[in-house]
Amino acid sequence: MTGIPHSKTKSSLWLALMLAGALCLVAALAAFTGSARADSPAAVLPQTGTPADNAACIGCHQQANMTLKLDKGDVLNLTVDLPAWEASIHGTSGLACTDCHASITGFPHDKVAVQTARDYTLQYTETCKQCHAKESSEQDDSIHAMLLKEGNTNAATCSDCHDPHTQKLVYVDGKLTDEARVQIPVTCSRCHSAIYDQYTQSVHGAGILEGNPDVPTCADCHGVHTISDPATTQFKLSSVQSCAKCHTDASIMDKYGLNTNVLSTYVTDFHGTTTVLFNPENPYEQVNKPVCYDCHGIHNIVSIDDPTRGLAVKENILVTCQRCHPDATASFPDSWLSHYTPSAENTPLIFYVQLFYKILIPLVLGGMAFWIGTDIFRKIRTRGKAKSHAETVEVEKPAEEKGKED
Ligand code: HEC
Ligand code: HEC
Ligand code: HEC
Ligand code: HEC
Ligand code: HEC
Ligand code: HEC
Ligand code: HEC
Ligand code: HEC
Ligand code: HEC
Repeated sequence: MTGIPHSKTKSSLWLALMLAGALCLVAALAAFTGSARADSPAAVLPQTGTPADNAACIGCHQQANMTLKLDKGDVLNLTVDLPAWEASIHGTSGLACTDCHASITGFPHDKVAVQTARDYTLQYTETCKQCHAKESSEQDDSIHAMLLKEGNTNAATCSDCHDPHTQKLVYVDGKLTDEARVQIPVTCSRCHSAIYDQYTQSVHGAGILEGNPDVPTCADCHGVHTISDPATTQFKLSSVQSCAKCHTDASIMDKYGLNTNVLSTYVTDFHGTTTVLFNPENPYEQVNKPVCYDCHGIHNIVSIDDPTRGLAVKENILVTCQRCHPDATASFPDSWLSHYTPSAENTPLIFYVQLFYKILIPLVLGGMAFWIGTDIFRKIRTRGKAKSHAETVEVEKPAEEKGKED
């Protein structure tokens, strides 16, 4: 508003007031003609405290260029896009304007109590609770709600992410629509534009721009109503599972020819064994071992073949290791299997050593078991033989005696 000369602002204010007056007249007229017809009694907008019909509100609020200047200079756009409202989920569900604008019971409306557009939006923080209890209680525990309570008025509230006048159904048959899904990062970008820019250049975000439903949106890693502080150890540890959810799913990964052993190889690795198996028991302890994103990046993940940052390039791996192993030299990463399950081509030494053990151990253990088994068997047999021999001797003895008697 800085560029507009004072006199012009003043005259446009007069114009607005005159327009408002004229609209008042129109509304009053509409009220009169309306009340004369028995079938549309609610077109009246009396100061009675009873909810008015949407038609009365829309009658004024579909006028183009209807604005309201707040005390601190912000301008609210009061024009409601009628076709968009009628196509919206709230419009088609038959909501009354006054379900949400409960304090507006007639015209003129009460003077707006807040002074800035941001405070105007924040007034409606509790409005959605009456019908969306689940999302509201989830949102109450989110990092955005906590930041709001702490006084960060820029943190997101319901109507920052959902325009209540134009909101479409996002869940159809219990599934998020692809259309709504690809819109998620755009919603977050209004306030997190730097992260959005990084993300859209990553292997994941580039997919979203092409409408690919397989790649993660902000919500796959953060949630939406349950967004938590990503700086906690708990978030860090659970991030492994959120990457793994897709990266171990062959029905997704086969399309891209990507290895689905990335979690199992990570867990058997000295880094992953601790983070996956031991740390979760002490979720408040700092983790010094890398999780997936310490090596791959977060919002800027690239294909492993990317020449500047991809991890299949030796120099790039070394830089990654050096963050925590500052003395690592060029050969350091060779001591490590990455996500490979040892094979004759990639890591012949480890592969053949493992193969050797795979043969040697069963051979030794099996041999021992065989030896012990046959030994026991022999002992039982010889004992059995000795016993039966003794018995036959005993049985035969009387015969001998008989013979002697003879
Ligand atoms: C006769 C025309 C007219 C009618 C009918 C009307 N409004 Fe308004 N509305 C206005 C004007 C003019 C403003 C500008 C601020 C003011 O004068 O209060 C406004 C402002 C508003 C605002 C923004 C300021 C605030 O108080 O929060 C909302 C929301 C609003 N109207 C909703 C409604 C709803 C809901 C209805 C129906 C129940 C309705 N209006 C009916 C003319 C009208
Ligand atoms: C589901 C709840 C809901 C319904 C139903 C609803 N509104 Fe709103 N309306 C809001 C919220 C929330 C805001 C505040 C938006 C903001 O400033 O971020 C708002 C703002 C407004 C404003 C002020 C300008 C603005 O956009 O900030 C006007 C005018 C308005 N609504 C008119 C209407 C009219 C007319 C209807 C009925 C056709 C209606 N609303 C139905 C929730 C609703
Ligand atoms: C008077 C009740 C009511 C209020 C208040 C209300 N809604 Fe709704 N909302 C509905 C109904 C009914 C639907 C239709 C779909 C459903 O049954 O969930 C809906 C649907 C939605 C959807 C789409 C849900 C889906 O499953 O795809 C969103 C998002 C939404 N509302 C957001 C809001 C926000 C944000 C507010 C507050 C500004 C709000 N609603 C206030 C009744 C309400
Ligand atoms: C930071 C942005 C953001 C905020 C804040 C937010 N939502 Fe949502 N909401 C979304 C997104 C994105 C989706 C769709 C994606 C999804 O559900 O995973 C969604 C989905 C929904 C749905 C559809 C059903 C469901 O549970 O997913 C409803 C209803 C809803 N929101 C209501 C609300 C209400 C009420 C509030 C405030 C208490 C709110 N939202 C706050 C971003 C937000
Ligand atoms: C209306 C603006 C707004 C929107 C929309 C919004 N956020 Fe935020 N968000 C904030 C603000 C402000 C903070 C506080 C930290 C800051 O200043 O960056 C924050 C904090 C966060 C944090 C915690 C980071 C930290 O440094 O504490 C995460 C994670 C986050 N938002 C994710 C999202 C996601 C995901 C979406 C989309 C679904 C989203 N936000 C939409 C304003 C918004
Ligand atoms: C593949 C998973 C993933 C996706 C997709 C993702 N994030 Fe994140 N995000 C993370 C992780 C992991 C962290 C924690 C980083 C840390 O420890 O510093 C994080 C941190 C954040 C933070 C706080 C720290 C910071 O860098 O300021 C914000 C805000 C945030 N993400 C917003 C977003 C938004 C907005 C999007 C979508 C455009 C998004 N994220 C997409 C995983 C993801
Ligand atoms: C919603 C599913 C999903 C989630 C969650 C997810 N990814 Fe991905 N990721 C994909 C898909 C699909 C691709 C392939 C995209 C393409 O090539 O267009 C991919 C590609 C990658 C690549 C590039 C592989 C290559 O060389 O082409 C890396 C590295 C990667 N993801 C790491 C991660 C990490 C680390 C996380 C967790 C912080 C994560 N992903 C979370 C689906 C996901
Ligand atoms: C210590 C570092 C490190 C950690 C931790 C790590 N990775 Fe990797 N990742 C790599 C390297 C290096 C490569 C490249 C392998 C190669 O070709 O040399 C790679 C490759 C990949 C690829 C591409 C696979 C393919 O088929 O091309 C994906 C996907 C991936 N990692 C996902 C993950 C996920 C998910 C996690 C966590 C469960 C994870 N990574 C943990 C270093 C790491
Ligand atoms: C986020 C930090 C971090 C990153 C990144 C990281 N490591 Fe480690 N690594 C550790 C920690 C911590 C240990 C355990 C050290 C100990 O217990 O003495 C460890 C242990 C090891 C060990 C076992 C032998 C030893 O030195 O204790 C090897 C081998 C190793 N890492 C290789 C790598 C390779 C190769 C990379 C790069 C691809 C890498 N690490 C990246 C933190 C990291």
